[in-house]
Amino acid sequence: MTSFAARAPVPAHADEPGLHSSASIPRHVAIIMDGNGRWAKARRLPRVAGHRQGVEAVRRITRAAREQGIEALTLYAFSSENWRRPEEEIGDLMGLLRHFLKNEIKELTREGVRLRILGNYRALKADLVELIDDAVARTATNTGPILAIALNYGAQAELVAAARRLAEKVAAGMPVSAIDEAAIDRELDTDGLPPLDLMIRTSGEQRLSNFLLWQAAYAELLFVDTLWPDFDGECLAQAIAAYGQRQRRFGGL
Ligand code: IPE
Ligand code: IPE
Ligand code: MG
Repeated sequence: MTSFAARAPVPAHADEPGLHSSASIPRHVAIIMDGNGRWAKARRLPRVAGHRQGVEAVRRITRAAREQGIEALTLYAFSSENWRRPEEEIGDLMGLLRHFLKNEIKELTREGVRLRILGNYRALKADLVELIDDAVARTATNTGPILAIALNYGAQAELVAAARRLAEKVAAGMPVSAIDEAAIDRELDTDGLPPLDLMIRTSGEQRLSNFLLWQAAYAELLFVDTLWPDFDGECLAQAIAAYGQRQRRFGGL
């Protein structure tokens, strides 16, 4: 499995010639999908209308990412802090997630996409957990790109869980010296995903909101003003072009 410890400045796909026409296509892109509420507000619509359009953007962008040759797309759909929202909005978001899982699984399977979930999704309603487990199992043997959806995800909680598992391993006899960057990578929800190359946040906010804090160590960050429901294939292409202009030095010269 690919490890996040592989942080050397190797061009994307140096080991897999021919998969991409360009070495500047990011292998792993993460998106903080923000701005649904403001999109709705600007149209005097209820916030849920923004979330509905946000789901349309998810459909568009998962397809566009595949077409662009991105190996792994990670989408922040619900943070561990989003429980602070009104119950009604949480219900709307969970309803849209249920709908998405029921409707998109066929296309994902057909397209060979592997679905992964980051975050403590087991705390969601039982029927959602069942839908998620089923979708993940049904796509597990696919060999195409990875779609990772972060649900009830918080990077600090992810790191706490990793620390606890490592502590248990030490208690069971693992030497403390075995804890290194690669060992931590393996305990994170992103184990097996390619190193994070590009993190995009829409809607003009410039913060990480507890998303992939460890994994973003050397990711390129891109903040765009576009609200998530307006984000389309052209916006993704522009983001990839911007990434291609960045000089990644990884501490070297
Ligand atoms: C992002 O849009 C969707 C989720 C966080 C679930 P927001 O709902 O945060 O939209 P704004 O930030 O209020 O515009
Ligand atoms: C981050 O957006 C979480 C998701 C996109 C799922 P928020 O809108 O919740 O973030 P803050 O509260 O503005 O930091
Ligand atoms: Mg927001």
